[in-house]
Amino acid sequence: MHLLNPGDVVFTESPTYDRTLTLLRRHKATIVGIPVESDGVNVEILESELKKRVPKFFYISPDFQNPSGAVCSGAKRQRIAELAEQYHFWLVEDAPYRLLRYRGKEEPTLFSLAPNRTLYMSSFTKLIAPGVRLGYMVGDADVLAKLSKIAEDTYISPVYFAHGIAYEWCRRGHLPPQIERLKKLYAPRLEACLAAIDRYMPEAKATRPDGGFFISLTLPEGVKTTDVRHAAAKHNLHLTDGLAFFPNGGGDRFLRLPFCALTPEQIDEGVRRLAESVKDTSQ
Ligand SMILES: Cc1ncc(COP(=O)(O)O)c(C=O)c1O
Repeated sequence: MHLLNPGDVVFTESPTYDRTLTLLRRHKATIVGIPVESDGVNVEILESELKKRVPKFFYISPDFQNPSGAVCSGAKRQRIAELAEQYHFWLVEDAPYRLLRYRGKEEPTLFSLAPNRTLYMSSFTKLIAPGVRLGYMVGDADVLAKLSKIAEDTYISPVYFAHGIAYEWCRRGHLPPQIERLKKLYAPRLEACLAAIDRYMPEAKATRPDGGFFISLTLPEGVKTTDVRHAAAKHNLHLTDGLAFFPNGGGDRFLRLPFCALTPEQIDEGVRRLAESVKDTSQ
């Protein structure tokens, strides 16, 4: 965030990762949300926003985005990379779910398409264990040196214990088989979630990702997520309010379904209860 002064413009996807929004607001950034579709951000809207003003950076998560699960298509990645070069803004590419692809073909990173305009970041958290909380950035050496200095001024040093764990995992060759194990564990959960949506909620519009942790739904016209949440609590189903993921409002009908922590049977039952909850609010 050392790139930012109060009032600076930052583009994000809409919806986007809520913690990023919290951080940007804390730094008093002016946030412009670019709508996300199932194949990534709407590039026409991105271009029309760029004609109005150029952001300091565009925070974007092209692979299995949190919260929508959307994956940016190859053609859109190419265009976003071109726009970053043309208008001279940074792409901050956040890719903690990229390696958790259960099927389909990988798209190139924005970093590979616009290496001089992209700061790429990822994390071991989703691959080793949540408690590790160890991330990393790849990109322009001068920018990263400045960021490291801010980090040092903020928390003295990184957590060397977490570094040691991640280093040993990689050195001993544990990471590739762990990723394969996670894919085997999570792939049936993704399938179960998609199948349950088809079975119980065929009218809901769902993203259909090939990996990651999240599927998202746009609830039918006239049904509000907040009402569904209240109804779901009565079925002992606890849902996150999606509103916090939207930088400039909207998202009344948005619902994120994180599928990784539940068994296929639990997922089926959860989606069944969700469908009941939607019915309750429509009556
Ligand atoms: C898009 C995105 N970026 C960053 C993070 C945080 O990463 P870490 O868990 O390594 O702190 C998350 C975690 O949920 C995330 O979804």
